[in-house]
Amino acid sequence: EKGGFPSFMEKEIHDQPDAVLQTLLGRSDIDGKLTLDELRIDPALLKSVNKIIVLACGTSAYAGQVAKYAIEHWCRIPTEVELSHEFRYRDPIVDANTLIVSISQSGETMDTLMAVRYAKEQGAKTVSICNTNGSTIPRESDAVLYTHAGPEIAVASTKAFLAQITAAYLLGLYLAQLRGNKFQGEIKDILADLGKIPAKIQEILDNEEPIKELGRSMADAKSVLFLGRHVGYPVAMEGALKLKELAYIHAEGFAAGELKHGPIALIEEGQPVFVVVPSPRGRDSLHAKVVSNIQEVRARGAKTIVIAEEGDEAVTAYAEHVFYIPESPTLLAPLLATVPLQIFALALASAKGYDVDQPRNLAKSVTVE
Ligand code: M6R
Repeated sequence: EKGGFPSFMEKEIHDQPDAVLQTLLGRSDIDGKLTLDELRIDPALLKSVNKIIVLACGTSAYAGQVAKYAIEHWCRIPTEVELSHEFRYRDPIVDANTLIVSISQSGETMDTLMAVRYAKEQGAKTVSICNTNGSTIPRESDAVLYTHAGPEIAVASTKAFLAQITAAYLLGLYLAQLRGNKFQGEIKDILADLGKIPAKIQEILDNEEPIKELGRSMADAKSVLFLGRHVGYPVAMEGALKLKELAYIHAEGFAAGELKHGPIALIEEGQPVFVVVPSPRGRDSLHAKVVSNIQEVRARGAKTIVIAEEGDEAVTAYAEHVFYIPESPTLLAPLLATVPLQIFALALASAKGYDVDQPRNLAKSVTVE
């Protein structure tokens, strides 16, 4: 049942091309129009939404944070992402024009369920992005968009994360389509680019040996930092979470721009720092800014490990290790950049002899508040 892999987690990492593909399948027509009739929510209602709040915990919340960049860009609807267990306790502003998007692999996370219930009581419309058919959160929501990642057994979430980003993007594109804004023309292109993601993930998996080797060689690391900007920021936090969960190593993800506001004080000789670099073809000066962040930590002795887009030569001078991912539009890059970080954490934890499927102190679904 592990498909010949030594652990469920490793199998699930390798299931990712299919998890993304299955989540995309049957949800758009050949003209590039999204057909999310399965949502069964009145389109007029969705048109009247003036605020989106994404509610989730852990990895699912990072998927929400990635999606926020895309949804705001495509839909121009203010979108917040909040940890479910924080949401209820701050007297949030929620009304009938608020769309709550909960994200949960299991559909049973008590914190998220309670937050969704609370939002419903305040009159919000609730959509659930979920990987488990018929589970509680989708049952209690007005609508559901299932991720079709297949059952995820390993406690550390991998394929569900990529499927959640994919589903949240489809929802964002659908909202943009309904609202008929200026991104109409782009929807078809983005869908086409999304369609190319599974093969690109496969390419990363086919070349996983060097990152595995790095993971094995770093089994003695005491602390690992992860930096990213824009959509690379939640990817950095997800990379850090995988390492905490699996390898019991102190790890932290920072927004690269925040470095100079404090975290750079942590950098000393030999400190490993992963940097998720945006595409040099992307907008603004994002790429140049991140490259200078690599320089800054390198100059202070950090061991820099860089995830960059194929052909990005600018990073090589400052990187001890570079792992290239295939080209993609900036917003889709998290579906690729996350994969080497998962493989790294898996390899490092395995080298320490830990049980990667059942890390200590953790449960697959957290059904207590
Ligand atoms: O089932 P859910 O997506 O609601 O679970 C949320 C978190 O408990 C979950 O993502 C957790 O952080 C994982 N162990 C991450 O690998």
